[in-house]
Amino acid sequence: MENVNMNTILPEYPGISSMAEKLFKKSAFQKKKVESFLSSKSAGQLQHIETLLHKYTGYLAAEGMDIGYAVDAYLKMLTDMMRCQIYFAKKGVYPVADAVLAFDEVYSDAARMKAYMIGLALSQFLWESHFNMYQIFQSAINTHAKQIKKYLEIGPGHGLYFQHAMMHLDTDTEFTAVDISETSINITRGIIESLVENPPKHEFLVADIFNFNPAVKYDFITMGEVLEHVTNPEELLGRLQGLLAGSGRAFVSTCVNCPAIDHVYHFKHVEEISAMLVRCGFIIEEEHFFPVENLPLEEIIRQRITINYCAVVKKL
Ligand SMILES: C[S@@+](CC[C@H](N)C(=O)[O-])C[C@H]1O[C@@H](n2cnc3c(N)ncnc32)[C@H](O)[C@@H]1O
Repeated sequence: MENVNMNTILPEYPGISSMAEKLFKKSAFQKKKVESFLSSKSAGQLQHIETLLHKYTGYLAAEGMDIGYAVDAYLKMLTDMMRCQIYFAKKGVYPVADAVLAFDEVYSDAARMKAYMIGLALSQFLWESHFNMYQIFQSAINTHAKQIKKYLEIGPGHGLYFQHAMMHLDTDTEFTAVDISETSINITRGIIESLVENPPKHEFLVADIFNFNPAVKYDFITMGEVLEHVTNPEELLGRLQGLLAGSGRAFVSTCVNCPAIDHVYHFKHVEEISAMLVRCGFIIEEEHFFPVENLPLEEIIRQRITINYCAVVKKL
């Protein structure tokens, strides 16, 4: 499909237009990046983003927020990321030493966590890598929909993945969301309340996944961007393995060289993630990686630029 010229999209996509206008007023750097992202999208993809954004704006309004708050939250997240990036460039390690610190400084700070998750939600509409991973997740849900009767999400955060699964799986599917942050659970609950009419059976649990011991196994588990948040990701993958049904699938995403205010475990190469998944008893059915800059791969690796990674896996 032919791509759309950025100069002509604004009147046709009022949600994107309003968000872009607010963002561009505050950040010239983001103008360049976001224009480049949007102008690479087909009319169909832009319509998809517009629809998502429209729904998301509805959620924000229901919770007493607006797109201006979301844009500010997004820019705050970028400033925090830049600060972490500078630390990483100087010291070669992530600024947060362990998961306890991430909990104390971020997950348990309601105002900080709320802004962070709302900012992260916007990145699903603004970053090539997050946009692509969300699409891959949607496609995995679509492929396996018929066999999913029990759906678990670990660390739903902003709630957009959980919401999509609930909207697209059979109404007799049972849904569980587990997150260590009460704020993330409140956001996810809010998304479901405002966007899903007649939601199917579901439960929201504020818990560390390491303390979650259900009696059942799950047909599909989503664990988006949680692996890098724990001190021992291998132990977390072991837990994921134990929670997954024999014929189940899991969608897992994480990242390489990606310092952030709550990232603890530093994956140095994509191969390290694939090898860990295999070592923990998974077969990788598909995997994808997305460097966040448009540079040759050797440069991405040499400059230690962030690479987003996702995979759909099943049990060995
Ligand atoms: C970056 S957000 C991920 C949001 C979303 N899943 C995505 O892929 O964009 C990470 C989430 O994982 C949660 N989390 C971190 N460690 C956890 C743990 N040990 N148990 C449960 N949730 C955890 C955080 O509270 C946060 O909501």
